[in-house]
Amino acid sequence: MYSAVRRLLFTLEPEKAHHLTMSALSALYSIPFGELLLRKTFYTPDYKPFDWKGLHFRHPIGLAAGFDKDGKYLAPLSALGFSFIEVGTVTPLPQPGNERPRLFRLPADRALINRMGFNNEGVHALAARLKKEKPKNLIIGGNIGKNKITPNDEALRDYVTCFEVLHEHVDYFTVNVSSPNTPGLRALQDKKPLEEIITHLRKHPLQSAIYKPVLLKIAPDLTDEQIDDIAEVCANTGLDGIVATNTTISRDGLKTPKSQVNSIGSGGLSGLPIQKASDEVLVKIAKRISTDTLLIGVGGIFTADDVQRKFDSGARLVQVYTGFVYEGPRMVQQIVKNLSKK
Ligand code: FNR
Repeated sequence: MYSAVRRLLFTLEPEKAHHLTMSALSALYSIPFGELLLRKTFYTPDYKPFDWKGLHFRHPIGLAAGFDKDGKYLAPLSALGFSFIEVGTVTPLPQPGNERPRLFRLPADRALINRMGFNNEGVHALAARLKKEKPKNLIIGGNIGKNKITPNDEALRDYVTCFEVLHEHVDYFTVNVSSPNTPGLRALQDKKPLEEIITHLRKHPLQSAIYKPVLLKIAPDLTDEQIDDIAEVCANTGLDGIVATNTTISRDGLKTPKSQVNSIGSGGLSGLPIQKASDEVLVKIAKRISTDTLLIGVGGIFTADDVQRKFDSGARLVQVYTGFVYEGPRMVQQIVKNLSKK
């Protein structure tokens, strides 16, 4: 069924298809019995429930950052079975992101390339939306970043602003310094700026009332030395967790013709082609950090086997994005069902 819908959707410009699908899902959710219908159709049982720092994950499958940046579709998305959703990346000021087109499909590779550039309505709009409506039984992560116009030496202020505005509305934070689409952002993965940001957020006065875990999202393109540095940051700051990984800037090993890939231009590649690199980074970081640090595996997940590999590499939770676009709304239900059979 979804393969027919996907064929139709894939004839549309990718960003348009995304908005159309989300609007349709929202509309269906809002009609009488719509929510019930969705929850029944996409019912996902609990599987290996996991309690961590006061949060209860009823199963380990979440939706990765970037899919619902402004938190507009949380209730309908949660009806598709996700146990947690990461909103954002959000920045202090609203920003339009890069010029369109900025999202591209590579069906031969089951992949996407995006150079969205943190398009979002700003942290205040997101906080207002979460204040008005936060779905029950859904854990929400706040993925935070800096505005494009903010120089790197003032980036800390942007992260702190997002943290303060969102603190009472999200369950955990992810510091995003690994998107390839904001010029210079990945330089913040260096030890010094990173330690400064993480320490500030973990020790922020707001944390004394209710502590919100602080995670770090890393790129799949890190060298071994950079991975060592991140492990050191973990040990020095008490970082609560790592989300591995974001998209890659590499274009190696693609089936899509080189001329087509070149014509797309810059951006982060996601989906099946990043699976190996993401798994490798996960394995490397897991070996270097304390087992108290939560690992969330993300990158190239399509099936229960892909999830199992992330678990075997040290992840306790996983997130999906590109796989969800290709596999469709039954993906979470299918994965949990197949994991349960293992
Ligand atoms: C992303 N991703 C992303 N990550 C992030 O931390 N902040 C963001 O705003 C975005 N935005 C975004 C937009 C689009 C269109 C895509 C495809 C991806 C990265 C995403 O969360 C995930 O880390 C990677 O896509 C790898 O997982 P998949 O897609 O291979 O399952």
